[in-house]
Amino acid sequence: MTQLPWLALSIERGSKTPIFEQICTAIRTQVVSGDLTAGTKMPPTRAFATELGVSRSTVVTAYEQLVAEGYLSSLRGSGYTVCVLGEVELSRTAPYDGVTSEPVDIRAPVPFETGMPDMRLFPYRQWAKAVARICRTNPQAMLVGGDAFGNFELRKSIAAHLSEWRGIDASAHQIMVTAGSMDALEICMRSVASTGDVIGVEDPGYPPLHHFAQAQGLVPHYLKIDDDGATLPSSTPLPDLVVLTPSHQYPLGGAMTPNRRLEFINWANAHGAWITEDDYDSEFRYAGRPIPALAGFDQLSRTIYVGSFSKIFSNALRLGYVVVPEALIDRFQDTVKRFGQKASYMPQQALAEFMSSGEFYRHLRRVRRSYGDRRKLLLDRLEREFSQFGFFKDHQAGMQIVFHLNPGFRDEDIASLARQRGLIIRPLSSMFARDGGANGLMLGFCAYTEDELIPAIDVLKDCFEELAAGRSQGGH
Ligand SMILES: Cc1ncc(COP(=O)(O)O)c(C=O)c1O
Repeated sequence: MTQLPWLALSIERGSKTPIFEQICTAIRTQVVSGDLTAGTKMPPTRAFATELGVSRSTVVTAYEQLVAEGYLSSLRGSGYTVCVLGEVELSRTAPYDGVTSEPVDIRAPVPFETGMPDMRLFPYRQWAKAVARICRTNPQAMLVGGDAFGNFELRKSIAAHLSEWRGIDASAHQIMVTAGSMDALEICMRSVASTGDVIGVEDPGYPPLHHFAQAQGLVPHYLKIDDDGATLPSSTPLPDLVVLTPSHQYPLGGAMTPNRRLEFINWANAHGAWITEDDYDSEFRYAGRPIPALAGFDQLSRTIYVGSFSKIFSNALRLGYVVVPEALIDRFQDTVKRFGQKASYMPQQALAEFMSSGEFYRHLRRVRRSYGDRRKLLLDRLEREFSQFGFFKDHQAGMQIVFHLNPGFRDEDIASLARQRGLIIRPLSSMFARDGGANGLMLGFCAYTEDELIPAIDVLKDCFEELAAGRSQGGH
């Protein structure tokens, strides 16, 4: 094995830059400067971790990040090797080239903020290659919009994705590219509901959806959640449109049972109503097979399907999509004419290539593996050390877990104490439109490395212990 200048790598433990990022930076610098040449074998993760005095998972996270960026490759059973630097020129002054000591101009994620992917795992290098290739071979594709529903290549890639991953058989002309799933939900509401109409929304649910519906003059019909998922609209006037999260209820996390799905489809058929399926994070299942979408079950007859790239790829890309049932295509086209198309056109061709080349799926598999490890760490500790404070239901999916509190704790109190200690925790009670007596914490786990999660969990435990001690002193 090539003798490597590992001792040049010193870890600054007090630094704001996470340890895994410091390791990435050092290795990138050595690759870019030519100190590490193509084909060089990297030290085994265990030995390297021992040498640096860090956990092995930190080294694995760093190596995987560099695999994602194209600096290293990994072959099962034979470790990690330095790659040939490809066609994208790496500038020494670019923010992510590893030369500066604070290379990442991304806001450091704060545990336990929800809905956040880990942007440090973004596959910069492969994405840069896709964009560079389009700039060279077909630059017009980045600038010329054409269709109001978006780039046709991307729509074809999305159709293939939905068929393979979500059991939805849609043709590309039914797919409309949007500026994320919230834009998609807004377009649905504008297309199938008018001021004064009743709209069924889950309670608890996604607050921006509730706010937009109200701002549009729609009358909310709140759907309670039980063990089978959202419950059917019960009182009159009945809604003309319901918005559901069947794969993974937001925010509680369960999947809607097949029976309940069928009941909703039958109900929509009987009342001539529409269902919008918000499938915002369905790619993140950590065990078993993905749960097929309701829209596949219904064969896009009464169901409008909404998906997003925000969670799988990047919130910053602001791209999502709607799959529009044939009967509604004219109405959706009219909505886009009246309100304009908000999705950025420029990245669409690159994203299409990224999907058809398979890079997208490699990235998805990688992040899912990392998120799965982070999730396991959080759940193991909650189970072992937090049972006197509350409990959680493991739905094996999603980007956050709800920790339900035992009597005596208030989610607002924990969240506010945790905020003073530097954590961001969303109380479950804030997700209800009506007071449902819910009391829990929403704990996002995806955007934080294991080294970031461990101290954050310690702080959360201190918060609970402090409030519990205060209670017993106060005689409760
Ligand atoms: C349930 C739900 N729907 C929609 C959205 C909006 O996602 P996007 O970023 O794609 O607009 C979110 C974002 O967290 C969400 O949690």
